[in-house]
Amino acid sequence: MSEKITAKITAVGHYVPDYVLTNAELETLVETNDEWIRSRTGIRERRILKDPAKATAFMGSEAAKEILKNRGIDGSEIDCIVVATVTPDYFFPATACLIQREINAVNAYGFDISAACSGFLYALTTGASLIESGRYKKVMVIGADKMSSIVDYTDRTTCIIFGDAAAGVLLEPDTGGTGIIDYIQRCDGKDSELLCMPAGGSLNPANHETVTDRLHFLRQDGRTVFKKATESMADVSLEIMEKNGLESDDVAWFVPHQANFRIIDATARRMGLSIDKVMMNIEKFGNTTAATIPLCLYEWSGRLKKGDNIILASFGGGFTWGSVYLKWAI
Ligand code: UT7
Repeated sequence: MSEKITAKITAVGHYVPDYVLTNAELETLVETNDEWIRSRTGIRERRILKDPAKATAFMGSEAAKEILKNRGIDGSEIDCIVVATVTPDYFFPATACLIQREINAVNAYGFDISAACSGFLYALTTGASLIESGRYKKVMVIGADKMSSIVDYTDRTTCIIFGDAAAGVLLEPDTGGTGIIDYIQRCDGKDSELLCMPAGGSLNPANHETVTDRLHFLRQDGRTVFKKATESMADVSLEIMEKNGLESDDVAWFVPHQANFRIIDATARRMGLSIDKVMMNIEKFGNTTAATIPLCLYEWSGRLKKGDNIILASFGGGFTWGSVYLKWAI
């Protein structure tokens, strides 16, 4: 009988823009204040890609180059590039194709996944399936979003939250029991409109009215999303722990989507985890949508040990949510 193949993470990489948008600067744009933003969200600052000639594919390519460098391989060795984003450079071609060009991945194919804040988890499990099938050996999974391109900087309920970034991982086969062990993923379109960008798609193509009505910006019913996110992230994280016989002591790290520190705190409590086991960098980067989880993995990678049990969890537009259980492999 052939050995079971799992997909293990063998390298991580990231990119964050230099420009720091502070709470103090936001105070000059909308009626808000540093104390409100910090106490309600945990965010002090976020990064913004200011250069109008650069967008999501640029950030994703920088992260991809760092992944190649850290793994010590060339772009030609990559079989597939999966990119999670809701801010692609274009509707088409896919951001994955633009990254493929930038990193010279001459033997790769690639595609984008649209699942908002759960995008990275959906992309990760899709990439893992490609590895588990035995057909592919090196799959790059990138989460990248230039949120500043769809944020309305006159809307204080959303503009304080989001930032720009990209990060990702390389997946390779393993037969030693590490890598992605299990996952649970869900979506529910019942309340899709509570977190969406109303125009720019085929339902409301761009025209004078859609621009005047500011329909090309992200909109969110924060309070309802907050409630759903807190319930769903905790439920799905507990479910994956139970399914895999994990007690809170068995979990080395919890990597939640960085939307609001209060959601993260409530989720960790329900999982019985102390906050020192929770990766949290929302203070520095805000909510970077598809990039939050790999950005945490990148920042913490030096502290992770082979065999560490790690739970990833997300909730976002769609609604989409899920959790992934992996054993760190490097
Ligand atoms: O990543 C995708 C998933 N997204 C999320 O998970 C985000 C979930 N939602 C949230 O994180 C929170 O709901 C927010 C951070 C968006 C808002 O925090 P909140 O504690 O839910 O505030 P709220 O919407 O209940 O508003 C409370 C008050 C309101 O004033 P009134 O009606 O009580 O007078 C708002 O108008 O705070 C006001 N407010 C602000 N005040 C100062 C809203 N935004 C601001 C602001 N500065 N930026």
